[in-house]
Amino acid sequence: MEKLAILGGEPVRRKPFAQFPVFDERELSALKEVLESGVWGGYNPKVAEFEQAFAEFHQARFGITAANGTVTLETALAAAGIGAGCEVIVPPISFIATATAVLRIGATPVFADIDEATYNLNPSRVEEVITKRTRAIIPVHFAGQPADMDALMSIAERHQLIVIEDCAHAHGASWKGKSIGSFGHFGSFSFQASKNLTAGEGGLLTSNDEELAEIARSICNQGRRTGGGWYEHVRLGTNYRLTGWQAAILLSQFSRLPEQIERRNENARFLNEQLSGMDLISTPYVDERVTSHSYYLYMIRLNPEQFPGTTKDNFVKALAAEGIPCSAGYPHPLYKNQVFNDYKHIRNDCPEAERMCSNSFWLSHEIMLSQPDSLNDVTFAIEKVVGGIGDLAKAI
Ligand SMILES: Cc1ncc(COP(=O)(O)O)c(C=O)c1O
Repeated sequence: MEKLAILGGEPVRRKPFAQFPVFDERELSALKEVLESGVWGGYNPKVAEFEQAFAEFHQARFGITAANGTVTLETALAAAGIGAGCEVIVPPISFIATATAVLRIGATPVFADIDEATYNLNPSRVEEVITKRTRAIIPVHFAGQPADMDALMSIAERHQLIVIEDCAHAHGASWKGKSIGSFGHFGSFSFQASKNLTAGEGGLLTSNDEELAEIARSICNQGRRTGGGWYEHVRLGTNYRLTGWQAAILLSQFSRLPEQIERRNENARFLNEQLSGMDLISTPYVDERVTSHSYYLYMIRLNPEQFPGTTKDNFVKALAAEGIPCSAGYPHPLYKNQVFNDYKHIRNDCPEAERMCSNSFWLSHEIMLSQPDSLNDVTFAIEKVVGGIGDLAKAI
């Protein structure tokens, strides 16, 4: 067996994987159109064009753009009337914004544990933390795999809860043929630089509820109402508007999304096949009711009994040294972040989330857009690190 790169051997790969984001003349000419229109702010017609196209693609009647995928969560919560004294159930495995958006509007995030296999909110754990103060649930479609929307919507209906789907990882994903972002009262999307669809920054809410959509739009636009005057403010709002530049990029990038989803799925099938026989690792578990996975992250779980003496972090460092872009992922469940030290009452016992943080990592998403032949290097590098696990354990 060849020496691991982290121990001084030759790396498996020195070339980069696919370029991301992908762009060409389409983006340049869309930007030029905005430049020449002179309408550089939030009311460039491209904003409405993007809102409509993106919402329709996700089977939603309304699309409301905003500055990013954090303020979309805050706006959705505020539009639903959630604030001080309310509890909102969130998963502990997500980006921090899913939970801090709840704090920012004055409510309390309550963590419910994840499902061991999918890493998404476990509906049984959600039921256990419902109290008379619970007003909403924010399921995250983690890594691009839809959460169990059958069970979560049924719980929400029984308890009359608002559902805000955090779709930041899952552009274009679907559950039993129905698009994510069309189940709950709102779907919240991010177009931040790392996301499958990006303009560097940006966000969008989908909704099928006309009244909630109008309130959300109004909050994002200084409390104005649709059809109202520029200096007419009917509610407390702020300026979360998206610019014409971002809409131009998003429209062009959006035209590439279906083909990119296809490529990500093709590459995931290849990796699943190639990596399936190894005891040390498990490839992503996908619920059979998922009809489209957007593979924002390709999750790999390490089986700890198979690698005594080393850790996930060391495995990931060794894989990165072989030239494979990967991340050790979230270091701990959200509630272990210092920000929550000031909120001692927040519930924080989620053993599955703890386990996930100690044994799961992800391949970065440019790998999922690469040509299939470069994926051989990924499987070869993983096999090499698995084969050299004993040396790694001794050396680190
Ligand atoms: C699950 C999740 N929710 C919310 C956000 C916040 O989005 P943004 O960075 O656009 O504010 C992100 C990403 O950054 C995310 O991954």
